[in-house]
Amino acid sequence: MKGRILVVDDDRLTRVALAHQLALEGHEVRDVDNPIPALALLAEEPWDLVLTDLRMPTMDGLAFLRRIRETRLATAVIVVTGHATVQTAVEAMKRGAEDYLVKPVDFDELNIRVEKIMARLALERELRLLRRCPDTPDRYHALVGRSPAMRRVFERIDALAGQASTVLLLGETGTGKDLVARTLHHVGARGGGPFVKTSCAVLSREVLESELFGHEAGAFTGALRQRRGRFELAHHGTLFLDEVDDIPLDLQVKLLQVLEERRFERVGGERTIEVDVRFVCATKRDLATLVKEGRFREDLYYRINVVTLELPPLRERREDILLLAECFLAVHADALGRSNPELTPEVGRLLLEYRWPGNVRELENAMERALALASGPVIAASDLPPAVTGGDARDGCERCLASRESLELKPFLAEAEREAIRWALGRAGGSQSGAAQLLGIPRTTLRDRLAALFAEEPPTTP
Ligand SMILES: Nc1ncnc2c1ncn2[C@@H]1O[C@H](COP(=O)(O)OP(=O)(O)OP(=O)(O)O)[C@@H](O)[C@H]1O
Ligand SMILES: [Mg+2]
Repeated sequence: MKGRILVVDDDRLTRVALAHQLALEGHEVRDVDNPIPALALLAEEPWDLVLTDLRMPTMDGLAFLRRIRETRLATAVIVVTGHATVQTAVEAMKRGAEDYLVKPVDFDELNIRVEKIMARLALERELRLLRRCPDTPDRYHALVGRSPAMRRVFERIDALAGQASTVLLLGETGTGKDLVARTLHHVGARGGGPFVKTSCAVLSREVLESELFGHEAGAFTGALRQRRGRFELAHHGTLFLDEVDDIPLDLQVKLLQVLEERRFERVGGERTIEVDVRFVCATKRDLATLVKEGRFREDLYYRINVVTLELPPLRERREDILLLAECFLAVHADALGRSNPELTPEVGRLLLEYRWPGNVRELENAMERALALASGPVIAASDLPPAVTGGDARDGCERCLASRESLELKPFLAEAEREAIRWALGRAGGSQSGAAQLLGIPRTTLRDRLAALFAEEPPTTP
């Protein structure tokens, strides 16, 4: 299960190695070299887990732990320590750290411990959701929604859960593809078996290959031990291939074979291994376009595109916005041991009007942030992120207009539009469809605007 992890260690090598390993597992990772910026990050955004050294120059590890507990009750902590400080690690566990690891950290061990914590956090969160949002029938796990669009999703989940067919989940970022993949697994016949997830992004071709297929000892430099891959780990269960569009072309051939035959060999191995796995794939991209561009194999596309389940963006199911907002408030207030605040009518209106490009995830983060900022029993407009209240664009405009003597509207608007497009392309890593989504315009419109506004000099992206 993927989470947001903060790594804190003044030793650069350890820090970078840990962060790299966790990112390989698909987690979202930030690393900082001391507790002070870490506390600032913790105050700003929700984190699932902090991995921290105990001996750091700016703040003692135990003091750091106490501050984390004050700021973020729900964030788990793993202490990473040298042999000399095992005693302190034990002390740290008494004070609320979840676990500890001894340096040099064994990566398999790390993955197991982190996975365990993530699974527990997800379960707790789901239980809280179920308790606080009785509207949702139990069997849909923690999927909240009562819009016609979500009801259709529930019906599809019911219909598909019992089948063995491969399912392709489509939807923008934050629409709940992960949650639906899990729900499909849990409510289906394989619910008692393993649910295994792999993100096909971030990993290099070699890593992804050995991740999926496993390898024999000595298969390549660094393959010291035999390792079972995700196909094997998902035996009698479900394998969720997230961001399936990112699989390198030559691995796509191998994946197609496994999908067709449910058989494969480990990297460097000769024995054919048979598995009984249900595949669920997810993508935010338009696979048909990738096929046309030659970046996704057509045969694989047809193989995984048999049964699709599309998750509607939040702005197309506005009936769910306030319901979800209230659920998230309740859940996070619960976790903090606080009473449940109310939304003012103005906040309700703002939430309904906003476009939510980051969908349910963005709404959940906004509610968690609002809860942290709200001092009393109500959430006010000032507790919402500036993007939601429209403050962003207004502030920016006011600032750049303040020093002007005159203004010609047309070039001013064109420059603002160019700036917005550059920003969106940068944010979306250069992907036009991603940028169009962020801007809330069709991709074709973005293409036209690019041609019109950047005729001489196309925008460069990092
Ligand atoms: N219908 C829903 N009810 C309750 N929570 C939801 C719902 N949909 C999404 N969420 C929550 O919103 C967050 C984002 O959802 P999820 O990770 O499933 O999105 P995703 O489609 O996989 O996004 P990405 O494409 O970025 O990976 C999660 O915390 C998830 O639990
Ligand atoms: Mg996801």
